[in-house]
Amino acid sequence: MGDWGETVWLVVVTLIVVVFLALLSSLYALVVTGVPVLRTPAEFLEEITAEVGGEKVATIVDAGCGDARALLAFCAAEGVTGRGYELNGPIWLYGFSRLLLSGRSGHIRLYWRDFFRCELEDVDVVYCHLMPAVMARIGAKCAEEMRVGTRLVSYLWEVPGWAPARVLKLGRRKDPLFVYEIPPGCQENDHPDCRPKT
Ligand SMILES: C[S@@+](CC[C@H](N)C(=O)[O-])C[C@H]1O[C@@H](n2cnc3c(N)ncnc32)[C@H](O)[C@@H]1O
Repeated sequence: MGDWGETVWLVVVTLIVVVFLALLSSLYALVVTGVPVLRTPAEFLEEITAEVGGEKVATIVDAGCGDARALLAFCAAEGVTGRGYELNGPIWLYGFSRLLLSGRSGHIRLYWRDFFRCELEDVDVVYCHLMPAVMARIGAKCAEEMRVGTRLVSYLWEVPGWAPARVLKLGRRKDPLFVYEIPPGCQENDHPDCRPKT
């Protein structure tokens, strides 16, 4: 095999290894989180942004930000900063490139990290589009760490046992958007996850 043949071979093997590692990383994230990579539909972003944003909102977190399209929309207003957490490496990388190309990396940060390891003390709104199985855990984390009056906004899935402040119905399918206030006007049964911190 000549020099040229060896170079092509090397490139092909490298590409195969990269694709294999990317698939492995995605599979790992799916197994660990139990949440597939799905985007919040573009046609709902304007309505959700109106709900997520607001005069007093300075910091928004997307818990499982995927390709960051939603987070970029939420943080379009002046003075709003965003943080996105994504465990799926290739998707995080895609979102990161997208952020760099948008020229807005000054006020939005994307972390290749488990959302459940981040801190929420300074956060005004957490947005999530996840799966039913993780909603109790995300509710407990928000109730534990976020300030009174801040919000958890969930596309499609509710936090079990919590009473939402509002439920919007989006689109023709009437997809629910649950808006919770922290501590969530919460359940009458005094669940420990929902007690305000003293
Ligand atoms: C359904 S997608 C939503 C993406 C984006 N938020 C949107 O609405 O367009 C959920 C994403 O959350 C990520 N994810 C799930 N659990 C996570 C966790 N604990 N930490 C970081 N990312 C997580 C998944 O890898 C997936 O990409």
